[in-house]
Amino acid sequence: MKKLLFAVICIFALLIGAYPLIYVFVEHKYTFLGSKSPEILHNLIWRIAFFAHIIFGGISLFIGWRQFGSKFRNKYIRIHRSIGRLYVVSVLISSVSAIYMGFYANGGIVSCVGFILLGAIWLITTSVAVVQISMGNVVKHQQFMIYSYACTFAAVTLRIWLPVLKSITHDPDNSYIIVAWLCWIPNVLVAYFINKKNPTTH
Ligand code: HEM
Repeated sequence: MKKLLFAVICIFALLIGAYPLIYVFVEHKYTFLGSKSPEILHNLIWRIAFFAHIIFGGISLFIGWRQFGSKFRNKYIRIHRSIGRLYVVSVLISSVSAIYMGFYANGGIVSCVGFILLGAIWLITTSVAVVQISMGNVVKHQQFMIYSYACTFAAVTLRIWLPVLKSITHDPDNSYIIVAWLCWIPNVLVAYFINKKNPTTH
């Protein structure tokens, strides 16, 4: 059961991690960018933040799952460190740009605050995980990385919840506002229970 759940997580992480590639193949006005106002689209800083966010967010989601599971880690510790460095740099870039973009998010103040908080928690939990391993605290490092990846995984859960909410409420605007919170709060709670269940390294 645990293995099946992990496989499902990996498949979603790979699929949504590669999803930003649609911006290479699809004309931008037919993507999410079509929902943004001309003022935002003409804002160079926003455009840089957007592409930095989706490229590095995609990388962090695509590679992050590989870090969990002691078998691989114990066998290939150097690869674990290399993937870890790439993951951390990607999260730092993607989270800072996400926080900035959060101020311009669709849906108004409620969704803005939801995305900004998620971005801040993503940045903080990842940074704390790095500080912990640099102090030799393996268990704390693992626990904070579980929180970090739970935040990264919000990119997946958002894209699952949003169509569900839209089909229940028939209200796309309010569904978007709700999903700005629903995409990450349950993930963080799941991370909390995983950590509570496994207080030692796993
Ligand atoms: C976990 C923290 C994350 C936060 C706080 C966050 C925040 C945001 C925000 C604020 C927007 C713009 C929304 C708007 O203007 O209405 C956005 C869009 C986007 N984000 Fe993220 N994001 C996160 C993670 C990720 C990850 C890991 C990916 C990797 C796939 C990703 C991919 C995208 C894409 C592709 C868009 C454009 C919308 C679309 O095409 O569906 N995000 N994000």
